[in-house]
Amino acid sequence: MSAVLEATRELEEYLVLSDQEIAERIGSAREALGPRVVILGHHYQRDDVIRHADLFGDSYQLSLMASQTDADYIVFCGVHFMAESANVVGKPSQRVILPDLGAGCSMADMANIDQVEDSWEQLRDIGVLDSKVAPITYMNSTAAIKAFCGRNEGVVCTSSNAVPLFDIYLKEYDKMFFFPDQHLGRNTGAKFGIPLDKMVVWNPHEELGGNTPEQLHDAKLILWRGHCSVHGRFKPWHVDKIREEVPGVKVLVHPECTREVVEKSDLDGSTSFIIKTVENAPAGSKWAIGTEVNLVNRLAKRFPDQEIHLLAPDLCMCATMYRIAPQNLAWAMENLADGVVVNEIIVDDETKHYAGIALDRMISMTERPG
Ligand code: 13P
Ligand code: SF4
Repeated sequence: MSAVLEATRELEEYLVLSDQEIAERIGSAREALGPRVVILGHHYQRDDVIRHADLFGDSYQLSLMASQTDADYIVFCGVHFMAESANVVGKPSQRVILPDLGAGCSMADMANIDQVEDSWEQLRDIGVLDSKVAPITYMNSTAAIKAFCGRNEGVVCTSSNAVPLFDIYLKEYDKMFFFPDQHLGRNTGAKFGIPLDKMVVWNPHEELGGNTPEQLHDAKLILWRGHCSVHGRFKPWHVDKIREEVPGVKVLVHPECTREVVEKSDLDGSTSFIIKTVENAPAGSKWAIGTEVNLVNRLAKRFPDQEIHLLAPDLCMCATMYRIAPQNLAWAMENLADGVVVNEIIVDDETKHYAGIALDRMISMTERPG
């Protein structure tokens, strides 16, 4: 057995510990590692994990934090595509750890690089690429798709900067091919007055995405047929129901919700926008929030002088974010304190180079929106 394997602690040993013991052991490992480690946490993480995060934010803020930290180890409490992005924008010597490798994103899984490259070639074959087409990918995608965008004059966007990036690209390009969230793409396109019939959906399982060549030539936005299973649970009737039940309520949703839900809401924006909106609201405000339940519950606890509801009564939890449990964090941290890196996320050099171009473009083209 190698020295590294001997030093590796087994995850099973953590499953029998009490919550208190787990929290103490994360704290001790944290202290032992000092500034060599930074724990980043996405807003959708559970309370018993987010309490250990040194820094937390939405996916845009986390990518900036990862590009700015000097820590040797970035322990990422979020999902796989976010950890990959941290590896891309981080310094070459930094190592990124995802405490549970099963923490993926069902939306990111709806587009793979082979499908994207094949779709691009289909567009080329029918002459659509003779006009200026920019590929734009939501942060919630693999590093390989980000690299594809980097190679082809495109960019990465997040829900907090999709609007300024669309603004730039719509002026400079004839059309955009947007991966993988059709709802963020459509909701953002609608903000620029693009009619629905100019926003076609690309189904990767059909020839030409299920469109005619004419539709594709005529489209302004080609939207990959992907969605978020969590935000997809909010329905227009939830908005009607809460308005009936809670007079004066304001409906605040994430743009991964469907167009119908966003149209019926009062406000939509990224997780940071949602947080800021509640932070700046006066006591007595009433909100129905359409986003991940851990974030909504935390806001309700933080602002007891406001009335905060989850937009849908049933559980809208991101099950993959939830996979990062304190047990996994303790396991990853204690191994690190022993000098063993577990669950490292490594993007290969070529992908890193081109994905880095697309991510750097995003960061340099947009200032942090409010
Ligand atoms: P944010 O860009 O708001 O962090 O969203 C990421 C995400 O996965 C939302 O489902
Ligand atoms: Fe992916 Fe949706 Fe979870 Fe965000 S909330 S990480 S888009 S599955």
